[in-house]
Amino acid sequence: MCNIAIFASGSGSNAENIAKYFMQSPKVNIALIATENPNAYVLERAKRLQIPTYQFSMEDLKKGSVLLKLIEMKIDFIVLAGFLKMVPSEMVQHFNNRIINIHPALLPKYGGKGMYGDRVHKAVIAAGEKESGITIHYVNEHYDEGDVIFQASCEVLPTDTPETLAQRVHRLEWEYYPKVIEHLIQGKCG
Ligand code: GAR
Repeated sequence: MCNIAIFASGSGSNAENIAKYFMQSPKVNIALIATENPNAYVLERAKRLQIPTYQFSMEDLKKGSVLLKLIEMKIDFIVLAGFLKMVPSEMVQHFNNRIINIHPALLPKYGGKGMYGDRVHKAVIAAGEKESGITIHYVNEHYDEGDVIFQASCEVLPTDTPETLAQRVHRLEWEYYPKVIEHLIQGKCG
């Protein structure tokens, strides 16, 4: 069994979609949904899905309590799904190539600190891009700079608002993130 922890800071539609995808899986256990945000809607979703949650402080994250909790829970693989904080380097090193993130644009464009959610879509539209999409990548010590694992693209329409573009990008995320996780964890668990 592969124990996965999902980290999310906000709504958590990806977290819920991934959890549902693996619900009947004999190989994958979504063992934990973790957040630094006590008001994150993902906590409601986790409760509904009966998945254990862990709400931590930034101090817990920086001082290593979060890493200890993950070790204690025998987590094999970490999925960031709308998690907006930097992963500390000791955690990156411990889970070498076993932490992945999804970004709502085609990296290396529109990434880096402060580029998340609607801010990304606003920037893509303001630049007049004809195409956007998703990037799934390994996490390293820098925002959005780890090796790219997978990308998928979609159109940006002249009539798009950040909200309509976000919906199109979310659909790509829901379609591909669980499948990419399923593929990646082979050989990285247990
Ligand atoms: C997703 O679109 C994800 O790509 C993005 O936040 C959204 C979370 O949605 N992540 C980033 O911008 C990270 N830089 P969700 O809470 O509904 O899953």
